[in-house]
Amino acid sequence: MTVLFADVVHSMDIAAAVGAERLREIMTDLVNRAAVVVQRYGGTVGSFTGDGVMAVFGAPTALEDHAVRACLAALGIQEDAKRLASDVQERDGVELLLRVGLNSGKVIAGEIGSGPFGYTAVGEQVGMAQRMESGAPPRGVMLSASTARLVEGTAALGEPELVQIKGADKPVAARRLLGMEERRRLIERVESNLVGRRWEMSAVEGLLDRAIDGHGSVVGVVGPPGIGKSRLVSEVSALATARGVEVFSTYCESHATDVPFRVVARVLRAATQVSGLDDHAARARLRAVMPEADPEDMLLLDDLMGIADPNVVLPRIDPDARRRRLIKAASLARKAPAVYVVEDTHWIDEVSDSMLADLVTVVPQTPTLVLITYRPEYTGALSRVPGAQSIALAPLTDPDTATLVAQLLGSDPSVGELGQMVAERAAGNPFFAEEIVRELAERGVLRGNRSAYISTVGAAEVSVPATVQATIAARIDRLDPAAKRTLSTAAIIGSKFSRDLLETLGIDPVLDDLVGGELIDQVTFTGDPAYVFHHPLIRTVAYESQLKSDRAELHRRLAAAIESRNPASADENAALIAEHLEAAGDGHAAYDWHMRAATWATNRDIAAARRSWERARRIADALPAEDPNRAALRIAPRTMLCATAFRVDEHVAGARFDELRELCTAAGDKASLAIAMAGLVMDHLYQGRTREASQLASEAWELTESVGDATLIVGLSEPLVSAKAGSAESNDVLRWSQRVIDLAEGDPSKGNFIIGSPLAFAFAERAAARCTLGRPGWRDDQRHGLAMARSTDPLSYAGVVHWVYGIGIPSGVLRPDDSAMREIEDALQGADRSGDDHVLAIAHMTLGLALVHRHTDTDRDHGHELLAEVSDMFLRGGYLLFELPIVNAYLAREQARDGDRDDAITLMRTAADHLIRQGQLLGWGIPATGVLVETLLNRATDGDVAEAGAAIERLAAAPADEGLVIREIWLLRSRALLARAHGADTAYRDCRDRYRAMAKQFGFEGHLAWAEAMP
Ligand SMILES: Nc1ncnc2c1ncn2[C@@H]1O[C@H](COP(=O)(O)OP(=O)(O)O)[C@@H](O)[C@H]1O
Ligand SMILES: [Mg+2]
Repeated sequence: MTVLFADVVHSMDIAAAVGAERLREIMTDLVNRAAVVVQRYGGTVGSFTGDGVMAVFGAPTALEDHAVRACLAALGIQEDAKRLASDVQERDGVELLLRVGLNSGKVIAGEIGSGPFGYTAVGEQVGMAQRMESGAPPRGVMLSASTARLVEGTAALGEPELVQIKGADKPVAARRLLGMEERRRLIERVESNLVGRRWEMSAVEGLLDRAIDGHGSVVGVVGPPGIGKSRLVSEVSALATARGVEVFSTYCESHATDVPFRVVARVLRAATQVSGLDDHAARARLRAVMPEADPEDMLLLDDLMGIADPNVVLPRIDPDARRRRLIKAASLARKAPAVYVVEDTHWIDEVSDSMLADLVTVVPQTPTLVLITYRPEYTGALSRVPGAQSIALAPLTDPDTATLVAQLLGSDPSVGELGQMVAERAAGNPFFAEEIVRELAERGVLRGNRSAYISTVGAAEVSVPATVQATIAARIDRLDPAAKRTLSTAAIIGSKFSRDLLETLGIDPVLDDLVGGELIDQVTFTGDPAYVFHHPLIRTVAYESQLKSDRAELHRRLAAAIESRNPASADENAALIAEHLEAAGDGHAAYDWHMRAATWATNRDIAAARRSWERARRIADALPAEDPNRAALRIAPRTMLCATAFRVDEHVAGARFDELRELCTAAGDKASLAIAMAGLVMDHLYQGRTREASQLASEAWELTESVGDATLIVGLSEPLVSAKAGSAESNDVLRWSQRVIDLAEGDPSKGNFIIGSPLAFAFAERAAARCTLGRPGWRDDQRHGLAMARSTDPLSYAGVVHWVYGIGIPSGVLRPDDSAMREIEDALQGADRSGDDHVLAIAHMTLGLALVHRHTDTDRDHGHELLAEVSDMFLRGGYLLFELPIVNAYLAREQARDGDRDDAITLMRTAADHLIRQGQLLGWGIPATGVLVETLLNRATDGDVAEAGAAIERLAAAPADEGLVIREIWLLRSRALLARAHGADTAYRDCRDRYRAMAKQFGFEGHLAWAEAMP
């Protein structure tokens, strides 16, 4: 057992100042408060010593963790005393200070009688506790060596010290108690024994053991509220703890489903055990846990977990890359066996959902068990993890329900019939059964204690609410007004709330009744104590049962409190603040915060940003027609939604875009329309609608020109020029890139609101057009573009490298020499670290195309593999489809090299036909035709030769701008090959020589090498 002794410092001085009467009043108050705390932790208050309090834990009832409980109580008493002291200070002008001492020891059975303890009963132990008290500093708690030993694992303790005690000659060893680790279930409530669930328990236990052996799994525990999901999980957690496996739990909340990153941040905070630390300490701990992680990745993790140093600038990288890197970094976090719990996943935010779904893919190779609870309506990513187990919890069977009800009620004959009624109503839902029993007890139908009730009324006269919600509502209704208000306000805040925040919202919290009634549970006991709702349904009912107007007011105050309590995190909290303001009915303010949340999320997760724009859009649409800002407010989020749709492979062509066009036209807002259009151009391109892309690009180009803003023209140029290049309109590419080069006036960062350096792209684009048209200066353009992009950012670099090599090598303009390969690899690495998934795919494509133009089999095999992956990626992802045919054409060429010529030719034909249909014959269609011709002529059946001839003529006959040199040189090459196949030697030599000469004339290194290699 542990003895607690608390006493007031200098009580004589206080008596002198306020009089004996008042002192007694103060002391009574103090003792009463202390008694409540002691009881909360299962202790017993002993004799009142005049100006102090004595309490015993672990006797007369044995409590294993008596020392822990006593420590918690000691801290709780100090906390309460502090509150009382401030009243006393105000009223009496004196300082009330308390000291607490603890000591643990054995009790000899029988020593303790039923009455208050006398010194004789536990004399020695109490004496030591009292000495500890006298050695404690004011407001402090001092532990004897025996108590300190028992709590070492869970308590924060000061260094061992020696306490000199008045009247004793030898100093005694002691340690100060500084704090207790927070732990949700430290103090277990009296719970019913688990009934039923045998099969479920043994299934999960089996999976737990497999996980400990290194074969982890993900388990979904599914069922309606109250059915026992959390209970199952907590039983498994107890098993895990007993096996020495750590358990990390997180939960999701109904009001935070649109607050991005919330849950994944919590999971990581739990997993790395940084909760409760200040940001500085948390960062240090994180680095200690993951020593091998990349330092820049750690900054991303800091940001994700909400512990970032505000003075450190985040690396500028795309959300996709951020996510890839975070997932890689987070998976380094733990190697020891662990159980992760995510509760109430039906409320998870989308970003967390998909990030966690990605994270858990590695679980089967790790010693990890992931338990996810959710209601049946949830169908998000975490419910569809491949290979995950799912356990659906059915209602308890009738006999199991009967057992549970009997446990709750006890066996007094008077409750027999009532029990049947409870069981019937509860219909196998254990929480419903518990709530009915609580409600009956509170109503006075049941008397006595849990598990030992006596019914005061015949069962026939008792009515029971029809649903669990109605039962909870009846219980809440019966609370006194102050407690009810506390509960309602808490419901606005969330599942977890603190006394302090309740006070900030302007109420005087009454919490003890709520804890006593098991409506809420206290989860932290030190500092600002925190509480959680005993069950999510209680929160829902408490939320919904208030007047809407009251609720609105509280939401408004809460929004203000979140902002003012943590102004540095306002951006991070913007989505949450917006949520509360929207619930408060303040549309304008909510709109602003949604837009702010979107801006914050733009660099972190584009889907999250889009969600916030979507919310803002809905608010704007609901504004009254006479609102003067309505049009502008409706346009802004829509513009961003259209502009970014292609990035998440969403499609806005059609109604979505037309509506914005109408709004912009009505409001005369050309700039917004142009921005949205650029996004739609990309969407068209990505979907392989090259013609539509080109047409819209022309319109968008004119529109930006008519706005007359150079920055806008430069900034939007890249997608528009890409569209023109896609459909081989080289003159437009030349003209437009020239315009950008002129307008940018040498400033690489001009118009950098979409990409880092539009000017670098313009150089690469002009180079491509110049090559195609046989104009001089393309080499310098390439060099300029590459150098500029390299020193701007990895994304621009990967894009420019694609323009230069990704197009240049297959076209025969450049050779994949070692320095080209180095540059391509560098760009790929940069794209991997900072680029979105599309840029990364492009970088892979560039590398793949370059590799299949190399000489060694190793390189070509590697290129073959890459192209196969890229093709698959484009097709499955449904993006970059205008690049798909050329990837497939080269993929087919490698297939032919491997001997599968027939399939390869089919694939090439399809690719070529596709390019023709999409108006790309004079773009990617040129090398695609070349590849097809070459492969056909290698197989060389009569039909093949004829087909090759036809393909050449098709290309030659396509109407084109003047001077399409790139076509001419490919035609020469193809015609040479055809002539050889026909055995027409003179014609062959003639074509070959002209081919060589032309390659030399234009400096096309690729063609030069191919021409030299021709016999
Ligand atoms: N099999 C069971 N035996 C005894 N009590 C149970 C059982 N399942 C659930 N309970 C109790 O019912 C209440 C509700 O269960 P809980 O796990 O919170 O439900 P859920 O998480 O599905 O909403 C809890 O108090 C829990 O202890
Ligand atoms: Mg639950």
